Amino acid sequence: MTCKDQSDELIFFINGRKPVSHFSVNACLLPIVSLHGVAVTTVEGVGSTKTKLHPVQERIAKAHGSQCGFCTPGMVMSMYTLLRNIPEPSIEDIREALTGNLCRCTGYRPIIDGFKTFCGASKCCQNGNDTKNCCLDQEPELNQEDDEISSELFKTDDFLPLDPTQDLIFPPELMLLARQQGSGRLVFQGERLCWISPGNLAELLELKAQHPSTPLVIGNTTVGPNMKLKGVSHPLIIAPAGIVELSVVKNLEDGISFGAGCSLSVMKDELKRVVSELSEEKVEVYQALLQTLSCLAGKRIRNMATLGGNILSANPKYDLNSILSAGGCTLTLASKDPFLFPGGLREIHLNEEFFTGFEKTAIRPDEVLLSVYVPHSRQWEFMLAFRQAQRREFSFSIVNSGMKVVFKEGTNVVDDIRMFFGGVGPTMVRTKHMCQELVGRPWNEELLTEACRLLLDEIPLQASAHGGMVEFKKTLTLSFLFKFYLHVLQRLREKGLCVDELPSEYLSALKSFRNEVPQGQHRYQVVSAAQFSDDPIGRPYLHQSAFKQATGEAVYYDDLPSIEGELFLVPVTSSRPHAKIISIDAAAALSMPGVAAFLSAPDVPGNNRRSWFGDIEELFVEEEVTCVGQIIGAIVADTRENARRAVECVKVTYEDLTPVLFTIEEAIEQQSFYNPQRKLERGSVDGAWESVDHIFEGEIYMGGQEHFYMETQGLIAVPKGEDGEMELFAATQHAAFTQEVVATTLGVEANKITCHVKRLGGGFGGKVMKIASLSAIAAIAAHKTGRSVRLVLDRGDDMLITGGRHPFLGRYKVGFMKDGTIVAADIIYYSNGGNTLDESLFIMEKALLHMDNGYRIPHLRGRGFVCRTNLPSNTAFRGFGGPQGLMVIESVLHEVAAKCGIPTERVRDMNMCREVSLTHHKQLFDPGDMVRCWEQCLQQACVENRRLAIQEFNKNNRWRKRGLCTVPLKFGVSFSKGFHNQGAALLHIYKDGSVLLTHGGTEMGQGINTKAIQVASRILKIPMSSIHITETCTGNVPNAAPSAASFGTDAVGMAVKDACEKIMKRLKPIMQENPKDTWAAWIKEAYCQKVSLSATGFFMGPHTNVDWEKGEGMPYYYFTFGACCSEVEVDCLTGDHKNIRTDIVMDVGQSLNPALDIGQIEGGFVQGLGLYTIEELQFSPEGVLRTRGPSQYKVPALCDVPAQLNVSLLANAHNPHAIYFSKARAAGDMGGIGEPTVFFGCTLFYAIKEAIAAARKDSGLSGSFPLSSPATPEKIRLACVDRFTQMVPAVEPGSFTPWTIGV
Ligand SMILES: Cc1cc2nc3c(=O)[nH]c(=O)nc-3n(C[C@H](O)[C@H](O)[C@H](O)COP(=O)(O)OP(=O)(O)OC[C@H]3O[C@@H](n4cnc5c(N)ncnc54)[C@H](O)[C@@H]3O)c2cc1C
Ligand code: FES
Repeated sequence: MTCKDQSDELIFFINGRKPVSHFSVNACLLPIVSLHGVAVTTVEGVGSTKTKLHPVQERIAKAHGSQCGFCTPGMVMSMYTLLRNIPEPSIEDIREALTGNLCRCTGYRPIIDGFKTFCGASKCCQNGNDTKNCCLDQEPELNQEDDEISSELFKTDDFLPLDPTQDLIFPPELMLLARQQGSGRLVFQGERLCWISPGNLAELLELKAQHPSTPLVIGNTTVGPNMKLKGVSHPLIIAPAGIVELSVVKNLEDGISFGAGCSLSVMKDELKRVVSELSEEKVEVYQALLQTLSCLAGKRIRNMATLGGNILSANPKYDLNSILSAGGCTLTLASKDPFLFPGGLREIHLNEEFFTGFEKTAIRPDEVLLSVYVPHSRQWEFMLAFRQAQRREFSFSIVNSGMKVVFKEGTNVVDDIRMFFGGVGPTMVRTKHMCQELVGRPWNEELLTEACRLLLDEIPLQASAHGGMVEFKKTLTLSFLFKFYLHVLQRLREKGLCVDELPSEYLSALKSFRNEVPQGQHRYQVVSAAQFSDDPIGRPYLHQSAFKQATGEAVYYDDLPSIEGELFLVPVTSSRPHAKIISIDAAAALSMPGVAAFLSAPDVPGNNRRSWFGDIEELFVEEEVTCVGQIIGAIVADTRENARRAVECVKVTYEDLTPVLFTIEEAIEQQSFYNPQRKLERGSVDGAWESVDHIFEGEIYMGGQEHFYMETQGLIAVPKGEDGEMELFAATQHAAFTQEVVATTLGVEANKITCHVKRLGGGFGGKVMKIASLSAIAAIAAHKTGRSVRLVLDRGDDMLITGGRHPFLGRYKVGFMKDGTIVAADIIYYSNGGNTLDESLFIMEKALLHMDNGYRIPHLRGRGFVCRTNLPSNTAFRGFGGPQGLMVIESVLHEVAAKCGIPTERVRDMNMCREVSLTHHKQLFDPGDMVRCWEQCLQQACVENRRLAIQEFNKNNRWRKRGLCTVPLKFGVSFSKGFHNQGAALLHIYKDGSVLLTHGGTEMGQGINTKAIQVASRILKIPMSSIHITETCTGNVPNAAPSAASFGTDAVGMAVKDACEKIMKRLKPIMQENPKDTWAAWIKEAYCQKVSLSATGFFMGPHTNVDWEKGEGMPYYYFTFGACCSEVEVDCLTGDHKNIRTDIVMDVGQSLNPALDIGQIEGGFVQGLGLYTIEELQFSPEGVLRTRGPSQYKVPALCDVPAQLNVSLLANAHNPHAIYFSKARAAGDMGGIGEPTVFFGCTLFYAIKEAIAAARKDSGLSGSFPLSSPATPEKIRLACVDRFTQMVPAVEPGSFTPWTIGV
């Protein structure tokens, strides 16, 4: 993007003074017309597997930073851009560059590991000290005797060097264009929108006068999302990006004037420079702005978003207005009318009066914001900014604030004070009265008490306020005030004034969490020295598609080119939770441009019902909707936009029905449960209560989780034109089920339907069930129109329609002895199944089967009820009920420890199974490896020492508390429905010796293809590069089981082994006859001898089953074990927390591929971190999912990964049942070995709970307290009861309409 200034110099943003600069941006928010004159580099232009990889692409791939690969191009481009601007970046530069790039698979650590190799030694993390390694020096301190243990997952020796001279140059023709362009206006006229880019300021003002209601768009980061997601339309847009006056930064004597069109990145850079140059007293407001800018959105948004846009969007959640207002900023406005204001300019103060309503300001419609003047601060002036968000970075603030106080010179008497708050009402709030009352008073405890009292009176939040969290928001305003008070007190003390004491333990209120890049140590057992060097088993080979994923060449279903005449399908969904459909009128929709058809139940040629183990689910609702988001019909049109617009015109009339149930509590009250209910019992729970020292009852609620795979669900259905044949290119984890459902829907035999799956951009269990229904719907449309049909759910629809992880409520009664030994536990599990059963029963069964987590509780009973509610049906999700079942028992252990007053790990230790015994479902289980994991974890994490350190820390810090939690894990592997435990593969060898392998699993990032190739390579004794997997296809491998239950690689690996062994048996005579020949020669000879070079492989897995009548059985082939220890620090005043360190020891048997396994473990853990501490689905009281996109629903980002994340694979662990003694590897559904480790996220939850308990203790509170999962800032803050929470009046439940309900 270039613009000209008066001196005819080519620049990018005038204050940048660079000939050409590089900016990473969000493509989805960038209108193509705004790119006139700009050179755009996409991931494909950076490097390619066909020519040459760019070092960024090579390193992310080789460091195992690409799993499903869907996020990889974005990561590559953020890093590439950084290197174009800073060839030798610091680790902080890298961290900043990646803020806002989300990955749902990797856990970020391997991405950082790859990218930090670009840092020079001098630019390392600076984290190194006596006790901690620096990021460039991560060799774990391996025991000298451990020469079998390695920490090396990739080698850096052969990395391509970064050679900036090889990078693309800015195209000379664009240089020329920029010079020739002059100040001409650019006009782009589209079908529905006209985009005008004025050539100069006069033209801009003229245009604004002519079209006063037209938005000015530079960054498009407010207008764009409004148009895309909220249905706002603008026939005309004025785009003044090239106007020099809007981009100028002027350093004036008393302050800085920023052009309103300056991007937030430019502003940040400029502030950074100014802060380093000016004296401390002048930069208070700049420091406050800088602090906020460093966590406002992500780098790419900051590159686009402008200062003017941020102010004039007038959104109280945006951060800058409260700071700029407190800082005393003025705005310069320009308009065409010079008579109204001299020179057409006027100045106006930025304050509460400027904001006249939500998204409304006092600026006249014909005015343009020219610049923003931010004055230097003066002596005796102190300023701070605050914000608290759902996630520390890349998240809108819940409450933000700018506070400034000016003292009478040389005193602690307040001369002036201003406080502004955003997020506590429809517009920014100024606590004017409070501030007036404080003027003239000394800065002391009395002032604080009075300020707190007055503050709340001016916060206008009603109990049912938009956005909810009313108590939290009010408490935050007090917490910010308190922090400000302490900060200023400290500053006054530093100035030598005699003011109130500041207890040292209160200083903890002033610290802010530093975002660090995660560091980690990995340990795995290397293969034996006797293993052939070219045998890949057990070695850290990189993901087979990693390079293609890093170059953007990897093909996902929506990358397939459209077929001529292709139509796009958008579903029509129910807006009522429970209602009878009276009529559907699609006439208006059908008359819209491009619309080909409307489809509903009568259009289904076969069966409109999907059947799954007896559970019937309608594809199109026929008569009665039972949740918001249920599919009633669909529109197919020539484009996605036309289909979307038409969907808005389909009129559905309803008659509301009762009951309407959303929550587990409501379902319990109405006894609304699916059948059957399940029960498991060991010992005699009812008889045990009398023999115990103590009994208590409690409960824990755990919210659901959205899969948030980066690639949303969808497919392309292609009718073949004869015999009812149809091909599907679908993002499914269960191709055979998709095929089966489509066939029954179309009323044809399965042999007419072929389902292809190349790869998935993440699945996590979410692409097993609903995708089959979506495929059937697209197939109906393809059948009806005879044209190929593409369905790609947008994020909002995906989240609304497809369901997620089940919320669970666990209620328990527990009997234990004085020393912490648990004797009896009676647990009732309720899950929120939603409006259909789907997989809910099996998920509940898994929760029950995992309820013991390897603890020896002699009398243990679990009962499970799946609640039928009017929410979208919940479904499989990585862990499949395990994380919920395990969470409840850990809650029991945590409470027992708290009641006994002993460390939680001691209670866990004493209750852990140590001998071979029967589980509560009477399966034999040897806990040996679990105990080894546990002990190694305790030792590796130095739990004993760190416990002492935490005690000391908590004693010395009143407003920061730390907590620690270690849990063991026993996790069952394989399907409990035994017939699913099978795997199949097909192997073809061609005459040139190349091998084509197919299997029934689906590749979704977990590396199942890589491992399948490793297995084949070992048996065939040929290089991995000679073996190719092209796709999963029902036409090649029929009736495959879902890639699920941590059993994918076991089943597929065994099947591949079987196929390879068959071939080798046939080749053996030829090989023996010509032992010196090559593979290619043997194959040629075999062909000539008419030996079949194609083989199927099959694996018949174990006959697992549970007799639920008797409550016993062997549901799992084997167990995998692990242990995890996490430490967190909580900011008791804001509810923020930081994950300090996590240590994981995992038993994977003998790892087939340590790099993939460690990647899965970390990825699973980070998803669990999201589950238990961040991700919160919010439903309205009407049952509408409010969190339908990344703005509202937060998944873990880089800042959430523990600063230290260490993973060890248990050494000398074998598993006689699995392929090459491995365990739970790369299984599909939910990520294989990454599936069990989701549960480890709960260590953070319980560590947080422990930290909160320490805070409560300081407030004189002891005893148990409720905390539901996820432990969000809101819940943490409100649980850390103190004088501020007690000032906020509690709202009476039932006395108001809440913003959200806990389902
Ligand atoms: C993913 C994401 C995360 C974000 N996170 C945060 C966050 O954490 N904190 C935060 O504060 N903000 C956040 N934002 C908001 C972002 O900072 C604002 O959207 C941005 O600053 C607006 O600038 P823009 O140039 O993109 O505005 P545009 O969308 O181009 O315009 C916004 C509005 O401002 C008006 N306008 C713009 N410039 C002028 C002018 N010179 N004169 C008159 N009217 C003008 C336009 O008419 C329009 O109505 C986020 C945005 C996104 C997309
Ligand atoms: S690899 Fe990052 S989202 Fe899958």
